[in-house]
Amino acid sequence: MRIGLCGLGFMGSTHLKGWSQLAGAQMVAVASDEPSKLTGDLSGVQGNIGGPGDRYDFSQMARYERWQDLIANPDVEAVDLCLPTNLHAPATMAALEAGKHVLVEKPMALSGAEARAMMELAERKGLILMTAQVLRFFPMYRALKTAVSTGQLGTVRSALFRRRCSAPAWSQWLADTAVSGGGVFDLLVHDVDMCVHLFGKPKSVRAVGHEDMKAGIDWILAEFAYPDVGTVVVTGGWHHPKSYPFSMEYTVVGDAGTMEYSSAGRPPSLYAADGSEQVVAMDAVDGYHAEVAYFHECVNSGRKPELCPPEESVLSVELAQLMQESRKRKGETIECR
Ligand SMILES: NC(=O)c1ccc[n+]([C@@H]2O[C@H](COP(=O)([O-])OP(=O)(O)OC[C@H]3O[C@@H](n4cnc5c(N)ncnc54)[C@H](O)[C@@H]3O)[C@@H](O)[C@H]2O)c1
Repeated sequence: MRIGLCGLGFMGSTHLKGWSQLAGAQMVAVASDEPSKLTGDLSGVQGNIGGPGDRYDFSQMARYERWQDLIANPDVEAVDLCLPTNLHAPATMAALEAGKHVLVEKPMALSGAEARAMMELAERKGLILMTAQVLRFFPMYRALKTAVSTGQLGTVRSALFRRRCSAPAWSQWLADTAVSGGGVFDLLVHDVDMCVHLFGKPKSVRAVGHEDMKAGIDWILAEFAYPDVGTVVVTGGWHHPKSYPFSMEYTVVGDAGTMEYSSAGRPPSLYAADGSEQVVAMDAVDGYHAEVAYFHECVNSGRKPELCPPEESVLSVELAQLMQESRKRKGETIECR
């Protein structure tokens, strides 16, 4: 498969590591509006997870300063879009129109309407579209999915997902809600998508919190009501001092046990109702590598990305919008239609 990568920042650099380890995948074109990145020197790239960027040899690849020019390259079969979030919808639509398969970073788009249009165009064109909702490929969250779907936890009665850090400082555009969607879209959409993955569509959403993007604050506490599960809480955001480390965690409580994980020090652990406790065995895989490998496999086989289907990514965007709306309305419960 011949791939073109748009965006060579934190995520572009992270995906590139994954692609470079994948047999059968050939990176043939890259695009970045920062010409210095097109030299292949990504060693200055930083983010909140994983290591710094690397140095790559781009000399045999087509290099563009505009993503539109990469998409117009007929040699590119699939594009990987690691661009600022407001460009996800236009770049995906253009790539699908040009007949390319698309892997687009999360969140799929900044509105449910845009995300739905992307999904519908991919269906009409018969092309693979997958949003890079990477938690579905992280071993600690895959272990949770297995425990819930095999019934190991019994009937789930409550769940909490938390993700927090200071406002990201590696790129200016992240501070502009119109471009990034703020902390709810940029950060917590991971956990929202995990709720969708585990429990499907909630009946209603309510949220409280505080947003002051000028001060770098976007904090939320949202409750998703699931008639069969009980209350699922998604909370966190950008609200800590710069010195505070990024962290993610979950606690899922079922009749047969509680499963808990925290990146701040607790590996996925299962506390069974019979009193036993164990650290849950996990696959030793890098989630980002597994994610690009899965997209590659879907394109090669022509199979829909069942593990990360576009309709669920659309729902995650819609739920993130409802969280913001409910917070604006001071915690009013909003039904999910
Ligand atoms: N899955 C994850 O864990 C994760 C983590 C961080 C970011 N993301 C998502 O990845 C996307 C990118 O975020 P990032 O942190 O890598 O941002 P970034 O600022 O580090 O990188 C963005 C890249 O896009 C390029 N770019 C911007 N406008 C362009 C244009 N018009 N044409 C060509 N190139 C252009 C920039 O030069 C830069 O290389 C966002 O949607 C973000 O939400 C996902």
